[in-house]
Amino acid sequence: MVQVSAGLEGVIAAATVLSDVDGQAGRLTIRGWAVEDLAGRARFEDAVHLLLDGFFDDLPADLAPALGQARVRAFAEVAALDAALVAREPYDAMRALLARLPDGDGVHDALALAAAPAVFTAAVLRRQNGLEAVAPDPALPHAADFLRMVRGANATQGEARALDAYLVTVCDHGLNASTFAARVAASTRAGLGSAVLAGLSTLKGPLHGGAPGPVIDMLDAIGTADNAVPWLEAALDAGERLMGFGHRIYRVRDPRADALKAALSRLSKGAGALPGRLALAEAVERAALDILRRRKPDRPLETNVEFYTALLLEALDLPPEAFTCVFAAGRTAGWIAHAREQQASGKLIRPQSVYVGPRPRAAA
Ligand code: COA
Repeated sequence: MVQVSAGLEGVIAAATVLSDVDGQAGRLTIRGWAVEDLAGRARFEDAVHLLLDGFFDDLPADLAPALGQARVRAFAEVAALDAALVAREPYDAMRALLARLPDGDGVHDALALAAAPAVFTAAVLRRQNGLEAVAPDPALPHAADFLRMVRGANATQGEARALDAYLVTVCDHGLNASTFAARVAASTRAGLGSAVLAGLSTLKGPLHGGAPGPVIDMLDAIGTADNAVPWLEAALDAGERLMGFGHRIYRVRDPRADALKAALSRLSKGAGALPGRLALAEAVERAALDILRRRKPDRPLETNVEFYTALLLEALDLPPEAFTCVFAAGRTAGWIAHAREQQASGKLIRPQSVYVGPRPRAAA
């Protein structure tokens, strides 16, 4: 009997220089950097450079101005944001605009794609609020400009730093579902735009990139720390999964949760309602971990990246319906690097299936 590996669990489908997820030790290495060190010191531009280095002969040494120009190029497509797209979910509208970018393989194509989710997300959010889209300022760092395009006003340095920490933390993560999808598209020799669209479509679901919005819904529904245990027990009794917990690879705490919690603590110093929200989240996290350990003693289920993603993006005044767009704004850099790495291997990804349907009928 042929064994099918459900969900390709345990299958090694690529060799990569880009990132290593050590699920037993709870470590994430991105091109030689521990994620918590990278998130604490790198801007998004630095992470993009780190990932793309060696995959393009003409990659500029300083990516900040090149990404700024790439935002300007992407913004030209915002004119195509019509009423039908504005009526869609932000993620769908952002993805539709991104599909308008050229499907090439050059460094200009790569940088336009890396810059585009920030530009399109900001434009879609503003248009959905009845406001004009704000053009990029190519002189600003990427994260600061992203927040400025959303708000129509400059963010503080601390806010831009927090968004940088987020984008860097999520920029790459081994062969996750969306990165695998991007590599499959790239293996057919489709362009980088196609690879990014494959990644975007795969990131959307709640088991992958769509979890942080529901984390906010959960915190809002719980409301107070006292209500955490009964609410969580009732959700599990109803057969629901707790968003922000569990992972295919990590059997211990996801190191990205701590990288984001550190960014959140830096941001929360003296910031309005945030310390109270963080205290509620910590109480919910403690209760959820206790309950999951009791209910699933054989399956370690720990906090994943999405739990603190939700809190950090909420603290930056980004609306929950755009959280997956912001995730994509970071992860696109990883998809592009993986697509280039896959193209260089030259091998089409084409696994096999086992047929379990009916045998051919005898012809009459
Ligand atoms: N809440 C409650 N139970 C959970 C759970 C969660 N968040 N995550 C996994 N489980 C349970 C499953 O119900 C299953 O139990 P069973 O064996 O009794 O049926 C068991 O743990 C294994 O789950 P499985 O779906 O096989 O694991 P996976 O490796 O395929 O799933 C995730 C990984 C991320 C899809 C899963 O943990 C999940 O759905 N988490 C919530 C969504 C989320 O936070 N996604 C963001 C990931 S970064």
